[in-house]
Amino acid sequence: MANLKAAITGVGGYVPDYILTNAELEKMVDTNDEWIRTRTGIEERRILKGKDKGTSDLAVGAIQDLLSKTNTAPDEIDLLICATTTPDRIVPDTGSTICHKAGLSNATAFQMNAACSGFIFSLTTAAKFIESGSHKKVIVVGADKMSSIINYKDRATCIIFGDGAGAVLLEPSEEGLGVQDALLKNDGAGVEHLHIKSGGSVRPATAVTVMNDEHYVYQNGKPVFKAAVSGMSKVVQTVMRRNNLSTPDVNWLVPHQANKRIIESVAKMADFPIERVMMNIQRYGNTTAGTIPLCLWDYEEQLKKGDNLILTAFGGGYTWGAVYLKWAY
Ligand code: UT7
Repeated sequence: MANLKAAITGVGGYVPDYILTNAELEKMVDTNDEWIRTRTGIEERRILKGKDKGTSDLAVGAIQDLLSKTNTAPDEIDLLICATTTPDRIVPDTGSTICHKAGLSNATAFQMNAACSGFIFSLTTAAKFIESGSHKKVIVVGADKMSSIINYKDRATCIIFGDGAGAVLLEPSEEGLGVQDALLKNDGAGVEHLHIKSGGSVRPATAVTVMNDEHYVYQNGKPVFKAAVSGMSKVVQTVMRRNNLSTPDVNWLVPHQANKRIIESVAKMADFPIERVMMNIQRYGNTTAGTIPLCLWDYEEQLKKGDNLILTAFGGGYTWGAVYLKWAY
């Protein structure tokens, strides 16, 4: 078997039309545009409206964009991995629903939950399928309808999150382009600061848990902020060091979009000029598994074949990591 690498050969994206502005949030909770902009960098986020619309609809939007841009027929896809924290339902698997809705009739499919790091965990997993030679056209979609688990009375969380999805096509490259290295980490002690209290097997939903708003995201922002900065900057530096990369060798840093101040701190600690750091948090907020592919979608025209990219994310779990890849087109 030739030394196959898994190359990204296309990017698609989808964000819903409805724009939730800071001005609108000012009417919902005790907050203000100035605080949100200076503390997070977010100006607006998208919200999926409509009865019975879920994460699979966001994912299908991104996948249809990807298939059309890459001129790929749905039945050519042999694997789909959906990174999400907001599956359509606890049962069944959302990957199956997406395949059904998008016509991916020949794909093996499953969902993966690594919270905000879901996209890089799924990308790394998908790369193994390509590298082994078993699969040739793989889609990784990061999709989250965060508005389904956010309490719009809690100013600590409702200003941050948005809905959206981004998808990439992975194909084998014999030119050495694509995923070069990945470092993925977990620390379950992080559950204390970022979790949903009820609705899982530990504490199934009841009328009481719902009445107490326990089905929404709880976050203690400060410790998560600190862990995110230190976690991401360390893995970025480790991945660069072990691949003999110095800052000028890396064309783009692609960080998870949780907070502009986190992104700026990681860039500073990893000695990265901010002009080479992808950022679109101002328009979409934190779309969890969607942030990194939505950055690639927005910056696609600025990318060149052979560019070195470092992707990095941090999220609930804690989960975090970095992926080094060479852009393939
Ligand atoms: O993506 C998954 C991982 N998640 C993250 O990476 C998020 C990490 N954390 C953060 O991004 C930040 O911690 C937040 C944006 C969540 C909060 O920013 P902060 O600078 O850490 O604020 P804070 O929680 O320390 O609050 C500072 C002050 C407090 O008031 P006092 O006690 O100083 O009077 C808060 O009550 O700001 C107040 N505050 C707000 N004020 C206006 C908190 N939220 C708001 C708000 N609007 N929305």
